[in-house]
Amino acid sequence: MTTLKMVILGRQGSGKGTQSLRICEAYGCVHVSTGDMLRSAVEQGTELGRQASQTMEAGGLVSDETMNGIVAQRLSRRDIAERGVLLDGFPRTAEQANALERILYDLGERLTVAVNLEVPTKTVTERMLGRGRGDDTPEAIQRRLNLYEQQTTPLLQWFDSRSLLCTVDGVGTEDEVFARIRAVVSPAGR
Ligand code: AP5
Ligand code: MG
Repeated sequence: MTTLKMVILGRQGSGKGTQSLRICEAYGCVHVSTGDMLRSAVEQGTELGRQASQTMEAGGLVSDETMNGIVAQRLSRRDIAERGVLLDGFPRTAEQANALERILYDLGERLTVAVNLEVPTKTVTERMLGRGRGDDTPEAIQRRLNLYEQQTTPLLQWFDSRSLLCTVDGVGTEDEVFARIRAVVSPAGR
């Protein structure tokens, strides 16, 4: 059986991390969150963490070169060949999307589906201010949301042109949102 190779998209605070845990539990795939990987590098004080911490705190984007390298390395590991993957927070630029396609192609794989969680800016801002992560200051939130509109929104068209995009309403309870995601991921052999 082929495994799920999925991307979850959506603005900051749309619930990507929250829903990823449920999706991976239901479909058995590996959750690869580039934000979680970077936060763990910062916590452990690695070279990557030292380089990335200021960018993250200010709500900027770590370089494509760095991110593509991290993801290529992670996707080459055996657990992903065996269980499939859910990418959360990657790709977020056109260059990352092209790199992802190449990385999967080199591994003899291709994406199954890209789910876009649609939640209005006002709602995500309230959610993030309520969460209080290190980069959830009003300034960093604004910068992250601006970068999302500029760099990541164009990717919706990129995924759509490959017939991979499914947009899901991300407003509602976590259970309601998860049911909507399941309805688009489960059909068509996914
Ligand atoms: P990253 O960790 O990816 O953060 P983000 O994009 O800002 O997204 P969030 O994690 O804030 O949102 P989420 O959609 O996961 O929402 P969540 O489930 O937490 O990236 C952090 C930084 O790392 C970036 O800014 C950048 O610097 C760097 N980085 C990472 N990847 C990179 C890349 N590829 N390239 C370059 N740089 C990169 O939910 C939010 C809140 O809402 C929570 O409190 C949750 O409990 C609540 N919530 C969830 N669902 C619901 C619901 N249905 N109803 C009510 N509340 C809900
Ligand atoms: Mg997250």
